[in-house]
Amino acid sequence: PRVMVLFGGRSGEHAISCATAGGVLRALDRDRYDVLAVGITPEGHWVLADDDPDRWSITEGRLPQVEDARAHVQLPQSSSDREVHLVANGDVPLPLGAVDVVFPLLHGPFGEDGTLQGMLELADVRYVGDGVLASAVGMDKHMMKLVFAGQGLPVGPFVVLLPGAYDRDPQGQTERIRPLGLPLFVKPARAGSSLGITRVDDLADLPAAIAEAQRHDPKVVVEAGIVGREIECGVLGGHHGERARASLPGEIVVDHGKHTFYDFEAKYLDEAAVRLACPADLSDEVTQRVQEIAVQAFEALGCEGLARVDVFVTPDDEVVVNEINTMPGFTPFSMYPRMWEASGLSYPELVDELVRLALE
Ligand code: DAL
Ligand code: MG
Repeated sequence: PRVMVLFGGRSGEHAISCATAGGVLRALDRDRYDVLAVGITPEGHWVLADDDPDRWSITEGRLPQVEDARAHVQLPQSSSDREVHLVANGDVPLPLGAVDVVFPLLHGPFGEDGTLQGMLELADVRYVGDGVLASAVGMDKHMMKLVFAGQGLPVGPFVVLLPGAYDRDPQGQTERIRPLGLPLFVKPARAGSSLGITRVDDLADLPAAIAEAQRHDPKVVVEAGIVGREIECGVLGGHHGERARASLPGEIVVDHGKHTFYDFEAKYLDEAAVRLACPADLSDEVTQRVQEIAVQAFEALGCEGLARVDVFVTPDDEVVVNEINTMPGFTPFSMYPRMWEASGLSYPELVDELVRLALE
């Protein structure tokens, strides 16, 4: 089968997507799959990309980026041939061949949020991972929390600032936020990798934090800080009526001397700042509760294929759902693959299973 590995894109997580693609390009069995690497530039142009995994890794703090090229890639326009074309600046399109499945390794808006999934549905092209609704809800921390709460899943206290609401009435909105206590986490509703997130320990810092979040999204979610361990759990499968399975959980251990929370720097640029403990040191009972809640969160959104569910485990062993990521970071060093590795599924096996699920 021919697999289009699609990455980069018009989001703040462009570079993370490139790094994820590097891992998958290395893992895909080239004897089994014919691999077509397609990058999306930060401006949104689709270009034929280098399929050498080394080109896309994050090395010594250098963030990879898809460069524009003259030749642009066009998606198939009909379901009959699933033929992809290369358009060289207004020239006649040259066929690149038929694609059997797209592996959309895009994080953040314009890729992880259902927009790409909708386009692929319209073009009748198969793709790996979650569909339109699950992707859209999973991208929007406001909608995600409403769906989780509606399904009876435990979510922490939060306040949503609809676009313009804070700027129209900062005092009134601050009074809505005050009961959440301190610290607060101020987040753009739709972003990833902690971009635009600020920890607020003093209400005087709230306006700046909201302005920072609004740089990424006019809608802002303010969350009460939860005291607890940061635990993540991988979920896989969920196709054709079969129940999805959960991996062993992992734990994010942040060096709080340098980072007040698991921010972008700690995630990708400061190797010493964070340790991924995998599997997490939890009792069997808590492990099972985390796994059950992770699968329930996956099901609440109607996910298919994969997702990583991030929770807090409080000192009383309560599990609170923080969020779901429908296209979690996927380099071999990322938590999602590492949790599956600890559960007996190697990185290449995981990649292979995801592609097979999409082709079934
Ligand atoms: N948004 C990043 C890639 C993650 O959830 O891992
Ligand atoms: Mg996230």
